[in-house]
Amino acid sequence: MKIAVVEGDGIGKEVIPIAVDILALLRPDIEFFPVEVGYGRWEKTGTAITAEDLSLLESADAILFGAVTTPPSRDYRSVVVQIRKTLDLYANVRPIWGKGFDMLIVRENTEGLYSGIEKIDEDQACTFRCVSRKGSERIARYACRCAATRRELTIGHKANVLKSDVFFRDICLEEANKTGVRFKESYIDALCLDVLQHPAEYDVIVTTNMFGDILSDVASYLVGGLGLLPSANIGSDHALFEPVHGSAPDIAGRNIANPIAAIRSVVMLLRHIGQKGPADLVEEAIQNVTGRGIRTRDLGGTASTDSFGRAVHREVTSLMPKK
Ligand code: NAI
Ligand code: MG
Repeated sequence: MKIAVVEGDGIGKEVIPIAVDILALLRPDIEFFPVEVGYGRWEKTGTAITAEDLSLLESADAILFGAVTTPPSRDYRSVVVQIRKTLDLYANVRPIWGKGFDMLIVRENTEGLYSGIEKIDEDQACTFRCVSRKGSERIARYACRCAATRRELTIGHKANVLKSDVFFRDICLEEANKTGVRFKESYIDALCLDVLQHPAEYDVIVTTNMFGDILSDVASYLVGGLGLLPSANIGSDHALFEPVHGSAPDIAGRNIANPIAAIRSVVMLLRHIGQKGPADLVEEAIQNVTGRGIRTRDLGGTASTDSFGRAVHREVTSLMPKK
Protein backbone atom coordinates (compact mmCIF):
# COMPACT_ATOMS: atom_id res chain seq x y z
CA MET A 1 0.00 0.00 0.00
CA LYS A 2 1.32 3.43 -1.01
CA ILE A 3 0.37 6.56 0.89
CA ALA A 4 1.16 10.06 -0.33
CA VAL A 5 2.08 12.44 2.46
CA VAL A 6 1.49 16.16 1.97
CA GLU A 7 2.70 18.05 5.01
CA GLY A 8 1.94 21.38 3.36
CA ASP A 9 2.64 24.58 5.28
CA GLY A 10 2.55 25.97 8.80
CA ILE A 11 1.46 23.50 11.45
CA GLY A 12 0.94 20.88 8.73
CA LYS A 13 4.72 20.37 8.94
CA GLU A 14 4.47 19.83 12.71
CA VAL A 15 1.43 17.58 13.06
CA ILE A 16 1.65 15.35 9.97
CA PRO A 17 5.05 13.73 10.79
CA ILE A 18 3.57 12.68 14.16
CA ALA A 19 0.54 11.13 12.44
CA VAL A 20 2.77 9.35 9.89
CA ASP A 21 4.98 7.86 12.64
CA ILE A 22 1.94 6.42 14.39
CA LEU A 23 0.58 4.94 11.16
CA ALA A 24 4.00 3.48 10.31
CA LEU A 25 4.16 1.88 13.74
CA LEU A 26 0.90 0.04 13.15
CA ARG A 27 1.46 -0.73 9.50
CA PRO A 28 5.19 -1.12 8.80
CA ASP A 29 4.29 -2.47 5.35
CA ILE A 30 2.99 0.88 4.15
CA GLU A 31 5.20 2.78 1.72
CA PHE A 32 5.05 6.55 2.27
CA PHE A 33 6.08 9.11 -0.32
CA PRO A 34 6.16 12.88 0.14
CA VAL A 35 4.50 15.37 -2.20
CA GLU A 36 5.37 19.03 -1.72
CA VAL A 37 2.59 21.46 -2.58
CA GLY A 38 1.36 24.74 -1.15
CA TYR A 39 2.66 28.13 -0.18
CA GLY A 40 6.30 27.08 0.34
CA ARG A 41 6.31 25.50 -3.09
CA TRP A 42 4.67 28.61 -4.60
CA GLU A 43 7.34 30.85 -3.04
CA LYS A 44 10.10 28.70 -4.53
CA THR A 45 8.65 28.05 -7.97
CA GLY A 46 5.67 30.37 -8.54
CA THR A 47 3.30 27.36 -8.64
CA ALA A 48 1.57 25.86 -5.62
CA ILE A 49 0.68 22.56 -7.31
CA THR A 50 1.41 21.11 -10.75
CA ALA A 51 -0.25 18.55 -13.01
CA GLU A 52 2.56 16.11 -12.09
CA ASP A 53 1.81 16.54 -8.38
CA LEU A 54 -1.83 15.76 -9.07
CA SER A 55 -0.83 12.60 -10.99
CA LEU A 56 1.44 11.57 -8.12
CA LEU A 57 -1.44 11.99 -5.69
CA GLU A 58 -3.68 10.01 -8.03
CA SER A 59 -1.16 7.15 -7.98
CA ALA A 60 -1.44 6.74 -4.20
CA ASP A 61 -3.78 4.32 -2.45
CA ALA A 62 -4.60 7.11 0.00
CA ILE A 63 -3.38 10.60 0.84
CA LEU A 64 -2.55 12.07 4.22
CA PHE A 65 -2.73 15.85 3.95
CA GLY A 66 -1.72 18.57 6.44
CA ALA A 67 -2.82 22.03 5.39
CA VAL A 68 -1.65 24.65 2.96
CA THR A 69 -1.44 28.40 3.36
CA THR A 70 -3.18 30.45 0.69
CA PRO A 71 -0.69 32.66 -1.21
CA PRO A 72 -1.69 36.32 -1.54
CA SER A 73 -2.23 36.20 -5.28
CA ARG A 74 -5.36 37.13 -7.24
CA ASP A 75 -5.14 34.34 -9.77
CA TYR A 76 -4.34 31.71 -7.15
CA ARG A 77 -6.59 28.65 -7.03
CA SER A 78 -6.93 26.79 -3.74
CA VAL A 79 -4.63 23.76 -3.72
CA VAL A 80 -6.93 21.57 -1.68
CA VAL A 81 -9.95 22.50 -3.81
CA GLN A 82 -7.96 21.57 -6.93
CA ILE A 83 -7.06 18.20 -5.42
CA ARG A 84 -10.65 17.52 -4.37
CA LYS A 85 -11.91 18.35 -7.86
CA THR A 86 -9.23 16.50 -9.82
CA LEU A 87 -9.52 13.33 -7.73
CA ASP A 88 -13.29 13.79 -7.56
CA LEU A 89 -13.35 13.48 -3.77
CA TYR A 90 -17.02 14.32 -3.59
CA ALA A 91 -17.80 13.55 0.05
CA ASN A 92 -16.14 15.47 2.87
CA VAL A 93 -16.93 13.55 6.02
CA ARG A 94 -16.39 15.26 9.36
CA PRO A 95 -17.23 13.44 12.59
CA ILE A 96 -17.69 15.54 15.74
CA TRP A 97 -18.44 13.76 18.97
CA GLY A 98 -18.29 14.40 22.67
CA LYS A 99 -20.26 13.92 25.86
CA GLY A 100 -23.87 13.21 24.84
CA PHE A 101 -23.53 13.95 21.15
CA ASP A 102 -22.21 12.31 18.01
CA MET A 103 -22.54 14.11 14.70
CA LEU A 104 -21.33 13.43 11.21
CA ILE A 105 -21.18 16.35 8.82
CA VAL A 106 -21.33 15.16 5.21
CA ARG A 107 -20.33 18.06 3.03
CA GLU A 108 -20.55 18.14 -0.76
CA ASN A 109 -16.93 18.66 -1.77
CA THR A 110 -16.61 19.37 -5.48
CA GLU A 111 -19.06 22.12 -6.45
CA GLY A 112 -21.37 24.75 -4.91
CA LEU A 113 -19.63 28.03 -4.16
CA TYR A 114 -16.25 26.33 -4.52
CA SER A 115 -16.89 25.34 -8.16
CA GLY A 116 -14.08 27.66 -9.19
CA ILE A 117 -16.24 29.38 -11.81
CA GLU A 118 -15.41 33.01 -11.06
CA LYS A 119 -14.91 36.33 -12.77
CA ILE A 120 -13.25 39.46 -11.46
CA ASP A 121 -13.83 42.73 -13.33
CA GLU A 122 -12.91 46.28 -12.45
CA ASP A 123 -16.22 46.91 -10.67
CA GLN A 124 -17.48 43.52 -9.61
CA ALA A 125 -16.50 40.00 -8.78
CA CYS A 126 -18.82 37.04 -9.26
CA THR A 127 -18.65 33.46 -8.05
CA PHE A 128 -21.00 30.99 -9.66
CA ARG A 129 -22.74 28.61 -7.26
CA CYS A 130 -23.18 25.45 -9.25
CA VAL A 131 -25.29 22.69 -7.72
CA SER A 132 -25.69 19.79 -10.12
CA ARG A 133 -28.07 16.84 -10.09
CA LYS A 134 -25.18 14.38 -10.25
CA GLY A 135 -23.29 16.16 -7.45
CA SER A 136 -26.37 16.41 -5.22
CA GLU A 137 -27.56 12.86 -5.84
CA ARG A 138 -24.27 11.26 -4.97
CA ILE A 139 -23.73 13.26 -1.77
CA ALA A 140 -27.38 12.68 -0.76
CA ARG A 141 -26.90 8.95 -1.33
CA TYR A 142 -23.67 8.94 0.64
CA ALA A 143 -25.32 10.75 3.56
CA CYS A 144 -28.38 8.46 3.46
CA ARG A 145 -26.12 5.40 3.57
CA CYS A 146 -24.45 6.86 6.68
CA ALA A 147 -27.82 7.74 8.24
CA ALA A 148 -29.16 4.23 7.56
CA THR A 149 -26.59 2.76 9.94
CA ARG A 150 -27.00 5.57 12.48
CA ARG A 151 -30.09 7.54 13.57
CA GLU A 152 -31.30 10.20 11.18
CA LEU A 153 -30.45 12.76 8.56
CA THR A 154 -30.62 16.55 8.75
CA ILE A 155 -30.53 18.46 5.47
CA GLY A 156 -28.87 21.85 5.99
CA HIS A 157 -29.66 24.45 3.31
CA LYS A 158 -30.78 27.98 2.53
CA ALA A 159 -33.69 27.12 0.26
CA ASN A 160 -35.66 30.16 1.46
CA VAL A 161 -33.24 32.35 -0.50
CA LEU A 162 -31.19 30.27 -2.93
CA LYS A 163 -32.76 28.46 -5.89
CA SER A 164 -29.66 26.25 -6.03
CA ASP A 165 -30.51 25.09 -2.51
CA VAL A 166 -34.17 24.41 -3.39
CA PHE A 167 -32.69 22.09 -6.01
CA PHE A 168 -30.24 20.54 -3.52
CA ARG A 169 -32.86 20.10 -0.78
CA ASP A 170 -35.39 18.48 -3.10
CA ILE A 171 -32.84 15.93 -4.29
CA CYS A 172 -31.87 15.14 -0.69
CA LEU A 173 -35.55 14.78 0.30
CA GLU A 174 -36.15 12.47 -2.65
CA GLU A 175 -33.16 10.31 -1.72
CA ALA A 176 -34.14 10.21 1.97
CA ASN A 177 -37.68 9.15 1.05
CA LYS A 178 -36.37 6.51 -1.32
CA THR A 179 -34.03 4.97 1.26
CA GLY A 180 -36.52 5.33 4.10
CA VAL A 181 -34.12 7.06 6.53
CA ARG A 182 -35.60 9.37 9.12
CA PHE A 183 -34.91 12.99 8.20
CA LYS A 184 -35.49 16.62 9.02
CA GLU A 185 -34.34 19.84 7.40
CA SER A 186 -33.04 23.13 8.70
CA TYR A 187 -31.90 26.52 7.42
CA ILE A 188 -28.13 26.57 7.64
CA ASP A 189 -27.85 29.82 9.64
CA ALA A 190 -30.27 28.59 12.32
CA LEU A 191 -28.56 25.20 12.20
CA CYS A 192 -25.16 26.74 13.04
CA LEU A 193 -26.60 28.03 16.32
CA ASP A 194 -28.73 25.00 17.07
CA VAL A 195 -25.89 22.48 16.76
CA LEU A 196 -24.16 24.47 19.52
CA GLN A 197 -27.27 24.75 21.71
CA HIS A 198 -28.68 21.25 21.16
CA PRO A 199 -25.87 19.06 19.78
CA ALA A 200 -27.61 15.84 20.89
CA GLU A 201 -30.42 16.60 18.42
CA TYR A 202 -28.13 16.00 15.46
CA ASP A 203 -26.75 12.92 13.81
CA VAL A 204 -25.82 12.94 10.10
CA ILE A 205 -25.97 16.41 8.56
CA VAL A 206 -25.76 16.79 4.79
CA THR A 207 -25.09 20.17 3.22
CA THR A 208 -23.45 21.99 0.32
CA ASN A 209 -19.76 22.80 0.07
CA MET A 210 -19.23 26.17 1.77
CA PHE A 211 -22.03 25.69 4.30
CA GLY A 212 -20.37 22.43 5.38
CA ASP A 213 -17.02 24.19 5.63
CA ILE A 214 -18.45 26.84 7.94
CA LEU A 215 -20.67 24.50 9.94
CA SER A 216 -17.77 22.20 10.82
CA ASP A 217 -15.58 25.04 12.10
CA VAL A 218 -18.57 26.29 14.13
CA ALA A 219 -19.26 22.83 15.54
CA SER A 220 -15.61 22.42 16.57
CA TYR A 221 -16.51 24.79 19.43
CA LEU A 222 -18.35 21.85 21.04
CA VAL A 223 -15.15 19.85 21.48
CA GLY A 224 -12.62 22.55 22.29
CA GLY A 225 -11.59 23.81 18.88
CA LEU A 226 -10.12 22.89 15.55
CA GLY A 227 -7.15 21.00 16.94
CA LEU A 228 -9.35 17.94 17.49
CA LEU A 229 -11.30 17.40 14.28
CA PRO A 230 -10.28 15.06 11.45
CA SER A 231 -11.91 14.62 8.08
CA ALA A 232 -12.07 12.20 5.19
CA ASN A 233 -12.42 13.29 1.58
CA ILE A 234 -13.90 10.34 -0.24
CA GLY A 235 -14.39 9.67 -3.94
CA SER A 236 -15.11 6.54 -5.96
CA ASP A 237 -11.42 5.94 -6.73
CA HIS A 238 -9.43 8.04 -4.24
CA ALA A 239 -9.42 9.13 -0.61
CA LEU A 240 -7.66 11.92 1.25
CA PHE A 241 -7.50 12.35 5.02
CA GLU A 242 -6.77 15.70 6.67
CA PRO A 243 -7.43 17.73 9.79
CA VAL A 244 -10.35 20.16 9.46
CA HIS A 245 -8.03 23.00 10.45
CA GLY A 246 -5.74 25.02 8.20
CA SER A 247 -2.05 25.88 8.47
CA ALA A 248 -2.60 28.13 11.54
CA PRO A 249 0.16 30.67 10.80
CA ASP A 250 -0.59 32.38 14.13
CA ILE A 251 0.87 29.41 16.04
CA ALA A 252 3.08 27.76 13.40
CA GLY A 253 6.71 26.99 14.26
CA ARG A 254 6.12 27.20 18.02
CA ASN A 255 5.58 23.51 18.76
CA ILE A 256 2.20 24.19 20.40
CA ALA A 257 -0.29 22.97 17.79
CA ASN A 258 -2.56 20.11 18.80
CA PRO A 259 -1.74 17.04 16.69
CA ILE A 260 -4.97 15.19 17.62
CA ALA A 261 -6.82 16.25 14.43
CA ALA A 262 -3.96 14.87 12.33
CA ILE A 263 -3.70 11.66 14.37
CA ARG A 264 -7.46 11.18 14.08
CA SER A 265 -7.13 11.62 10.32
CA VAL A 266 -4.97 8.48 10.49
CA VAL A 267 -7.76 6.82 12.49
CA MET A 268 -10.19 7.64 9.65
CA LEU A 269 -7.67 6.38 7.09
CA LEU A 270 -7.28 3.09 8.96
CA ARG A 271 -11.06 2.63 9.12
CA HIS A 272 -11.27 3.38 5.41
CA ILE A 273 -8.80 0.60 4.59
CA GLY A 274 -10.68 -1.85 6.79
CA GLN A 275 -8.33 -1.66 9.80
CA LYS A 276 -10.95 -1.13 12.50
CA GLY A 277 -8.87 -2.70 15.29
CA PRO A 278 -5.80 -0.48 14.81
CA ALA A 279 -8.08 2.54 14.31
CA ASP A 280 -9.84 1.95 17.64
CA LEU A 281 -6.46 1.39 19.28
CA VAL A 282 -5.18 4.81 18.17
CA GLU A 283 -8.36 6.52 19.39
CA GLU A 284 -8.01 4.72 22.71
CA ALA A 285 -4.40 5.90 22.95
CA ILE A 286 -5.50 9.52 22.42
CA GLN A 287 -8.18 9.15 25.11
CA ASN A 288 -5.74 7.57 27.56
CA VAL A 289 -3.11 10.28 27.07
CA THR A 290 -5.54 13.21 27.37
CA GLY A 291 -7.23 11.39 30.26
CA ARG A 292 -3.91 11.55 32.14
CA GLY A 293 -3.98 15.31 31.78
CA ILE A 294 -1.38 15.45 28.99
CA ARG A 295 -2.82 18.13 26.71
CA THR A 296 -1.67 20.86 24.38
CA ARG A 297 -2.27 24.53 25.09
CA ASP A 298 -5.57 24.82 23.17
CA LEU A 299 -7.05 22.30 25.64
CA GLY A 300 -5.65 24.13 28.65
CA GLY A 301 -2.54 21.97 29.01
CA THR A 302 1.18 22.61 28.73
CA ALA A 303 2.32 19.73 26.50
CA SER A 304 4.13 20.63 23.30
CA THR A 305 3.12 19.21 19.92
CA ASP A 306 6.11 16.87 20.01
CA SER A 307 5.73 15.68 23.59
CA PHE A 308 2.02 15.01 23.10
CA GLY A 309 2.82 13.14 19.90
CA ARG A 310 5.47 11.07 21.68
CA ALA A 311 3.04 10.25 24.50
CA VAL A 312 0.44 8.96 22.00
CA HIS A 313 3.14 7.03 20.14
CA ARG A 314 4.24 5.34 23.40
CA GLU A 315 0.65 4.60 24.33
CA VAL A 316 -0.05 3.03 20.93
CA THR A 317 3.07 0.86 21.39
CA SER A 318 1.91 -0.33 24.80
CA LEU A 319 -1.62 -1.07 23.56
CA MET A 320 -0.45 -3.01 20.52
CA PRO A 321 -0.92 -6.78 20.82
CA LYS A 322 2.41 -8.42 21.70
CA LYS A 323 3.74 -10.77 19.06
P1 NAI B 1 -6.85 27.70 10.76
O1 NAI B 1 -7.73 26.49 10.85
O2 NAI B 1 -5.48 27.49 10.27
O3 NAI B 1 -6.79 28.40 12.21
C1 NAI B 1 -7.92 28.92 12.87
C2 NAI B 1 -7.61 29.07 14.37
O4 NAI B 1 -7.57 27.78 14.98
C3 NAI B 1 -6.26 29.71 14.63
O5 NAI B 1 -6.35 30.56 15.74
C4 NAI B 1 -5.35 28.54 14.92
O6 NAI B 1 -4.27 28.84 15.77
C5 NAI B 1 -6.31 27.55 15.59
N1 NAI B 1 -5.90 26.17 15.30
C6 NAI B 1 -6.03 25.52 14.11
N2 NAI B 1 -5.52 24.30 14.20
C7 NAI B 1 -5.04 24.15 15.45
C8 NAI B 1 -4.37 23.09 16.13
N3 NAI B 1 -4.08 21.93 15.54
N4 NAI B 1 -4.01 23.29 17.42
C9 NAI B 1 -4.28 24.45 18.04
N5 NAI B 1 -4.91 25.48 17.45
C10 NAI B 1 -5.29 25.34 16.17
O7 NAI B 1 -7.63 28.73 9.84
P2 NAI B 1 -7.17 30.17 9.31
O8 NAI B 1 -6.35 30.87 10.29
O9 NAI B 1 -8.43 30.78 8.85
O10 NAI B 1 -6.32 29.87 8.02
C11 NAI B 1 -4.90 29.81 7.99
C12 NAI B 1 -4.44 29.39 6.62
O11 NAI B 1 -4.82 28.03 6.38
C13 NAI B 1 -5.02 30.21 5.47
O12 NAI B 1 -4.03 30.44 4.50
C14 NAI B 1 -6.11 29.30 4.91
O13 NAI B 1 -6.35 29.55 3.57
C15 NAI B 1 -5.50 27.94 5.14
N6 NAI B 1 -6.46 26.84 5.25
C16 NAI B 1 -6.11 25.67 4.63
C17 NAI B 1 -6.90 24.57 4.73
C18 NAI B 1 -6.45 23.32 4.07
O14 NAI B 1 -5.36 23.25 3.54
N7 NAI B 1 -7.24 22.27 4.06
C19 NAI B 1 -8.15 24.60 5.49
C20 NAI B 1 -8.41 25.86 6.16
C21 NAI B 1 -7.58 26.93 6.00
MG1 MG C 1 -12.44 25.05 6.49
